[in-house]
Amino acid sequence: MIVTIDGPAGAGKSSIARQLADAMGFDFLDTGAMYRAIALAAIRADLSWHDRDAIIKLAKRCQIEFRERQVWLNGNDVTELIRTPSVTDVIRHVADLPEVREILTQRQRTFANGRDIVTEGRDQGSEVFPDADCKIFLTASPEERAKRRQQQLAEVQRYVPLEDILAQQNRRDLEDQSRPVGRLRPADDAFVLDSDGLSLEDVLLEVLRVVNRVRSEHAASADER
Ligand code: DC
Repeated sequence: MIVTIDGPAGAGKSSIARQLADAMGFDFLDTGAMYRAIALAAIRADLSWHDRDAIIKLAKRCQIEFRERQVWLNGNDVTELIRTPSVTDVIRHVADLPEVREILTQRQRTFANGRDIVTEGRDQGSEVFPDADCKIFLTASPEERAKRRQQQLAEVQRYVPLEDILAQQNRRDLEDQSRPVGRLRPADDAFVLDSDGLSLEDVLLEVLRVVNRVRSEHAASADER
């Protein structure tokens, strides 16, 4: 069974997708980490963002592995590094390239082959797994997402004005929504869940309800055959 969870930055996808995977006993695929790893590799190789061919070649060569909860790039643990603003700020240069998306799409499909997975990203339900059993699009208003981000940062003693977070978030939303291939959008058959005013626990319960409903529908139709 494949469950896709897509949505904008800050909608709580990662926490929900991980917890859902744990609750269902499914494997978890963080596709944002794959784009992040390639952006980090390009920074390390000092590539020019104008050199599309070099970025594509690098993407083909990059070895990205998920070990437990860590992300490894070419044999090194990069779990923390790929989350730094210097990586986030340049991701569009790799995520905008259709060739890079194609390389990662194939790897994501290979990962899913023969497994039960929860996969999280922007294009999982719309492009990568159009036949997924259950598609969820998790969203929240820009203000709510920015407030949650501000709170997360405050928890690690970083105090950033809401306007700054909102401005950066709007820029990322625009980038994610306007890329020529793999843009952020709900698949036509996605269940859209707006998490404004809901706690993480509420969202998880709702998502579990949707996934379990799909699962029992599948089991019922298998029995009929
Ligand atoms: O989910 P995240 O913040 O880790 O993702 C980082 C960036 O990677 C995001 O801004 C857009 C890109 N991305 C993508 O283009 N397609 C995906 N399936 C996942 C992420």
